[in-house]
Amino acid sequence: MLATNIGIDLGTTSVKIFMQGKGIVLTEPSAVAYNQENKIVGIGQRAYDMLEKNPEGIRVVKPMVNGVVSDFTATGQMLRTFLARVCKNMILKPNVVVCVPSTVTGLERKTILELASASGAAKACLIEEPLAAALGAGLGIDVPRGVMVIDIGGGTADIAIITMGCVSISKSIKVAGNALNDAIIRQLRRERDIVIGEKTAEMIKKRIGSAILRDVELGMTIKGKNYITGMPGTFEVSSTEIFLAMRPQLELILEGVRSLLEETTPDLAADILESGIYLTGGTALLRSIDKMFTQKLGIKTKVAADPVNCVAMGTGEALADIDILRHNGYVFKTRAELGGLEEHGE
Ligand SMILES: Nc1ncnc2c1ncn2[C@@H]1O[C@H](COP(=O)(O)OP(=O)(O)OP(=O)(O)O)[C@@H](O)[C@H]1O
Ligand SMILES: [Mg+2]
Repeated sequence: MLATNIGIDLGTTSVKIFMQGKGIVLTEPSAVAYNQENKIVGIGQRAYDMLEKNPEGIRVVKPMVNGVVSDFTATGQMLRTFLARVCKNMILKPNVVVCVPSTVTGLERKTILELASASGAAKACLIEEPLAAALGAGLGIDVPRGVMVIDIGGGTADIAIITMGCVSISKSIKVAGNALNDAIIRQLRRERDIVIGEKTAEMIKKRIGSAILRDVELGMTIKGKNYITGMPGTFEVSSTEIFLAMRPQLELILEGVRSLLEETTPDLAADILESGIYLTGGTALLRSIDKMFTQKLGIKTKVAADPVNCVAMGTGEALADIDILRHNGYVFKTRAELGGLEEHGE
């Protein structure tokens, strides 16, 4: 292939683009901001910065929800802008591999392929996210022994067992980093009458959040509003209350893993016990999340190196070895080969 190969991780919270020979060339929040005339006034970081600040008449759209396209137009506009940015000096259009959660429907797959083609790809192809995550984590995936990869991003936790270069069994649950933020927001409003925004919840989670109770409690001063009086103020929150707020959500992820293990054949389950669990995705950075899995499931768990970029880097690995894609039945297709573009194109 003469054209440049590009891998895109189209995530719920952020888009990451990998370019063959260059590595990760773009990381931007998945967000598009529109004004009252429905004109775009910001894409990516610029749009995200407008979120919650509520500039007059500005509407910020997060076009991906739970790993799938929820706003077709906004996703297309975002992809086109990002692709144009990374490909600005290219003569030929790039070939693009886009990651999708392993459980997306046929229609969702088609939608994403169409979008990639309409956004400037010469040829487009999909790869299942857990496979990309495993490749990005540096796991030898084409060996007969099964390995479990859990990619916990913003919108979804994708749990998969990979063996012989293919996803053998997988499950996607709609609980991940965003659900943890929402749980913090709910808990503070319910128990403390404090109203905070999404960005503050995110900051609290990263600073004092933990998947298992900390030995030494930490405190943090935050800005918010009193729910009753509506007055702004500063408040002290503790790591214990944040842990308790997030615990039910983390329990849902553990439940998902347990149920997948129950459906797994005894041989594969034995492999997992030996090879362990690998965590990828941004939420793998939550403090002690690996320890939580080890303790609650009795299976050794490791956070992959650079977990946030594993999926995007894995698309790169797949691009370098097109056989991985072929073995999994993924074929690069041009826009014309995809067909059925008239309804949504441009
Ligand atoms: N240090 C940290 N501690 C806890 N959570 C973190 C940390 N760093 C990032 N995150 C969380 O990781 C999430 C983003 O991860 P990632 O970029 O893998 O998601 P995504 O690929 O956009 O989403 P998805 O895969 O669900 O579509 C956010 O919810 C963010 O809050
Ligand atoms: Mg992701």
